[in-house]
Amino acid sequence: MEYTKLGSTGVIVSRLCFGTMTFGQSQWKLGGVDQKLADEMVNTAIYNGINFFDTADVYSAGQSEEMLGKALGSKRQDVIIATKVRGRTGKGHNDAGLSRKHIFDAVDRSLKRLGTDYIDLYQVHGWDSLTPLEETMISLNDVVRSGKVRYIGFSNYAAWQAALSMGISEKLSLARFETAQVHYSLLCRDIEYEIVPLCQEKGIGILPWSPLSGGFLSGKYKKDEQPPAGTRIGDRGVWFPFFEKEVGFKVVDVLKEMSAKMKSSPSQISLAWLLTKPYVTSVILGARNMEQLKDNLGSVDVKISEDYMKKLEDITAPRLQYPNWMIHTQAQDRLPKA
Ligand SMILES: NC(=O)c1ccc[n+]([C@@H]2O[C@H](COP(=O)([O-])OP(=O)(O)OC[C@H]3O[C@@H](n4cnc5c(N)ncnc54)[C@H](OP(=O)(O)O)[C@@H]3O)[C@@H](O)[C@H]2O)c1
Repeated sequence: MEYTKLGSTGVIVSRLCFGTMTFGQSQWKLGGVDQKLADEMVNTAIYNGINFFDTADVYSAGQSEEMLGKALGSKRQDVIIATKVRGRTGKGHNDAGLSRKHIFDAVDRSLKRLGTDYIDLYQVHGWDSLTPLEETMISLNDVVRSGKVRYIGFSNYAAWQAALSMGISEKLSLARFETAQVHYSLLCRDIEYEIVPLCQEKGIGILPWSPLSGGFLSGKYKKDEQPPAGTRIGDRGVWFPFFEKEVGFKVVDVLKEMSAKMKSSPSQISLAWLLTKPYVTSVILGARNMEQLKDNLGSVDVKISEDYMKKLEDITAPRLQYPNWMIHTQAQDRLPKA
């Protein structure tokens, strides 16, 4: 296992993080992992060097946090726990969002479910268009100052939203976002436009979610066949996260060719590609069984050759959007001349 700093903090995390969205009877039909299997998965992850776990208050309506807390037991102190706030946790007006009320209520409920008295990384799960940003940032700062939370991060923000938040933290001397939990995979490189440059400029660690595009990059789906039952896409009937299917199958063809030559699975190669990115702090793995978890853990040993790296980069390159192509063009006359 490789280790790195969590953003600009002094905390050290494994470059693979174990995501527990499959734990519990998920309202989104994501896995149904029970406590016995969760215990086994968490122990296997730790045995293989993982010290970083991700969950959220909304995963399986709180069951994921509860099960992770139980599975960790006395090992809690040796690991970094990340959870989230923002999603709907009840029917009431204030059971969602990033208001002071919901953040204060939600943090206490997460602590209780996790069976711990601190959360290492508390992430806003998405933008709240209703709550003033100052209210959210001050409330997050307060949960840090209270000792309930050690660091904060954002998830699913546009770069301008994250930049505004960073500005408020700086201006008011508040705790700042240390991490960005964002969707990033071979089939969705959109963060390279704005989020990556922002994070590099500000020393924010990037934590990619759904690194296999919901399992698609494992290569188990066939172009002309319905997704089978017992798989995430088959069970849910939704191709999520979104990607262009035609490009997706082309990428899977290349991954299968590489897999045959390299003796590594398409999943391992897809995860290894993310691990080559210096701005990626830790890749958040997903798995619904032990076989998948063990397969994915093997990604740390995979080395992609320069030729294959170029091939993967070329077929998945995001098309430059304005103003990015103008910024890129104008940057050329600011390069030091030989
Ligand atoms: N911040 C956010 O908004 C957000 C959103 C999504 C996820 N996340 C975080 O990111 C974590 C990972 O996301 P994810 O579960 O979507 O990751 P993913 O790796 O894209 O998908 C995981 C799913 O793919 C299938 N799979 C995984 N490894 C496989 C393998 N080796 N061979 C074949 N199939 C395999 C399994 O589904 P099936 O067996 O059911 O097909 C598994 O549950 C989550 O646990 C959560 O912590 C965060």
